[in-house]
Amino acid sequence: MCGIVGHLGPSDSVEVVMEGLRRLEYRGYDSAGVTFINESGELKTYKKTGKIEKLTELISNVDTHSMVSIGHTRWATHGGVTDFNSHPHAFEKLSMVHNGIIENADELRDELIAKGYNFKSETDSEVFLMLVNDLKKSMPLKEAILKGFTRVTGNSAFVFISEEEKEIFAIKRAAPLVCGTHYTKSQAVVSSDPYALAGAADRIYFPEDGILCHLSVGNKELIAFYDSEGKPSKAYQSKKQDMQVDPSDKGDFEHYMLKEIYEQPGLIRALCQYYFNGDGKEALAAMADLNPSRFHITACGTAFYAGLVVRDFIEAINRIPCSFELASEFRYRNPILEKNDIGLFISQSGETADTLAGQEECKEQNAKTVSLVNVEGSSLYRACDHNLLIRAGVEIGVASTKAFTQMGLTGRLLAHALSGDLDNSVKQTELTDRFELLAERIDKLLEEVDKIKAIAEEIYNKKGYFFTGRGRYFPVALEGALKLKEIAYVHAEGYAAGELKHGPIALIDEDMVNIALVGPELKEKTISNIQEIKARKGIIVGIGPKDNSLMKISDYFLELNFDGLEELSPLYINVVNQLLSYYMAKFKGTDIDKPRNLAKSVTVE
Ligand code: M6R
Repeated sequence: MCGIVGHLGPSDSVEVVMEGLRRLEYRGYDSAGVTFINESGELKTYKKTGKIEKLTELISNVDTHSMVSIGHTRWATHGGVTDFNSHPHAFEKLSMVHNGIIENADELRDELIAKGYNFKSETDSEVFLMLVNDLKKSMPLKEAILKGFTRVTGNSAFVFISEEEKEIFAIKRAAPLVCGTHYTKSQAVVSSDPYALAGAADRIYFPEDGILCHLSVGNKELIAFYDSEGKPSKAYQSKKQDMQVDPSDKGDFEHYMLKEIYEQPGLIRALCQYYFNGDGKEALAAMADLNPSRFHITACGTAFYAGLVVRDFIEAINRIPCSFELASEFRYRNPILEKNDIGLFISQSGETADTLAGQEECKEQNAKTVSLVNVEGSSLYRACDHNLLIRAGVEIGVASTKAFTQMGLTGRLLAHALSGDLDNSVKQTELTDRFELLAERIDKLLEEVDKIKAIAEEIYNKKGYFFTGRGRYFPVALEGALKLKEIAYVHAEGYAAGELKHGPIALIDEDMVNIALVGPELKEKTISNIQEIKARKGIIVGIGPKDNSLMKISDYFLELNFDGLEELSPLYINVVNQLLSYYMAKFKGTDIDKPRNLAKSVTVE
């Protein structure tokens, strides 16, 4: 969940690391820190609680000229949010940053205390620094890290910088780590996220667990990889020659989240192009040979709700049963995986620990795995047998928006590919047109965003919110509530409209809002459910097609044009939810791009 960056190059190392940290701040923002080797060859560490601006301020009068540095943004797990607990941790001539959890930290700490070590922080991370420091007394640093790594349990990535070697070492287990080099800039970088490498590397490598990455000017390619015995090894090299990113600034948008909502029509239009005429052709065609008897759709958060949309597509088109599981529960339920069952894993980052654990469970039970994933080369991408990229571009807002839409649409393509009907250009054109229609409707919605903003202004201060929908609109009711909770810090629940009467209706009073998602299907039944809420004085926000009864019953009404969208309509209505949450959060004045307590990529279980 923390962001880590290391850099080695001819100059301005701290600048590269700080830029990387700024990009990764969405991963954790409890504190930030940097260690560099100054021009006198000494290790210098600066760290501060709060966001990166605090660190920038702290080092503003410091001479940070350096050729080697590491940095960190923290999402606290062990130990409070204090300067001491912030990373990097430094001891004598060694400094280290960590992302993850050392499960046997207490045991190792006791051992090291018995040897006379004192700990400055309450973190598990400092334990590994001390352990390596201790081992280093009798062996070179490279061996000490490799040996120390065998003693720690749990999922972690570590990056070390040493005053003596003036080099960087990195190693990980079930946590994201990516390295890269830039030939013309003669620099090497390492990070927990490829996004930090954008512009800084034109060759990208994803090391496997336990592989030691060594960044040194002494290496022919600046980076070398070693296996657990210290023998030269390799890392997966990304197919992309350059890490393409959207500009890291927000353009004219106040928040990344809003920018990402607005990117959706363009991304939708590009998806068919990529899969029908571009590099995605082969991966999509391979789906036709899968022939699964059942899918186990597994994911977390927004990706999980997108999975419900995908389930509806697959079951409708292919009549292949899909079970769906929260990734954090999947492997602990001892899932029944039969021959020809396929695990379908959905993730924006491809680094979510629970999702990766689910994938591993499938592998152990010899089931094939397929991903719908955004980050090419991510851990999930490398682990699965097949991957369909969702092509959402870099998503910075912690609240996922465009990834949801792209997951749903890629799932739609998957469903068609499974049935083999995408070989046919008529079908391809039909789908391209349907996607185009969705993009146009979203464009129109964005042009009329003031209507949504006006509703948000009326309802943002109420007691609680129920997003309700039936059938294909139920998954987006769940997703709508998640979005609102995340960024507006209000209690919201997604419910199947017909289920409310079985209990939660007890909560309805004049200060509770029902955001009723109504499509052309099951319209009458859904309106009856809204009547039940209205009868108990609930405030109704009706979002749906032009309909007298719906308009009459709604305190606030937003008319949507569903014509021709059919099964894609949940993805349309979901954009209303995104905008409604965004503006409600804005009226509340919360930190929309970096909501409290959250991290973009959840790499701990
Ligand atoms: O990177 P992933 O798609 O695997 O992430 C899964 C969830 O952590 C993520 O969707 C989370 O729920 C978002 N904050 C939702 O906006």
